[in-house]
Amino acid sequence: PRAIYLSRHGESMMNLEGKIGGDSDLTPRGWEYSKALGEFVKDDMPADLKVWTSEMKRTNQTASSIVDRPIEKWKAINEIDAGVCEGMTYEEIQDQFPEDFARRDEDKFHYRYARGESYEDLIARLEPVIMELERQHNVLVVCHQAVARCLLAYFLDHNSEELPYLRVPLHTVIKLTPVAYGCRVEQFDLKI
Ligand code: G3H
Repeated sequence: PRAIYLSRHGESMMNLEGKIGGDSDLTPRGWEYSKALGEFVKDDMPADLKVWTSEMKRTNQTASSIVDRPIEKWKAINEIDAGVCEGMTYEEIQDQFPEDFARRDEDKFHYRYARGESYEDLIARLEPVIMELERQHNVLVVCHQAVARCLLAYFLDHNSEELPYLRVPLHTVIKLTPVAYGCRVEQFDLKI
């Protein structure tokens, strides 16, 4: 590929409430990011760019201000499935499932939410996305925090201990450009 651009969705209602998972809409601030991302794509990204989103509302809404670039939805790009913890705050999880909360803290990469997924599961789910990304020219992936961590770890060679803790700020575009060995990384804070 020539460049891979990664972005989380704009701020969602559940981000604001501190709840994980779900399928909520963007906040007004999230919509501002959508508009800014649309401008950024128009002004600074290649004409042959393809845009990939998950099937969740927040990534589709974030990409909805992008014009003149094909947009494709991938279920495989959906956020990590938090199973029984979907829609809960971390405080509620700690309260209701204290043992799980502690186990996750001990081994965040392998910890699998009850009736949900682990980061390890998520990497397996993302494999076809990564294979296709390797084949493409210029792609913007509008995704989710855990998904972005997996993609970054793959392209930047982070190990499984680092992966679940990689920092992926909201309202920021990360550009990866393959070089001889590895990737050059640039971050663009769209200041929302
Ligand atoms: O809702 C899931 C978050 O994007 C992932 O955050 O794995 O740090 O809990 P976490």
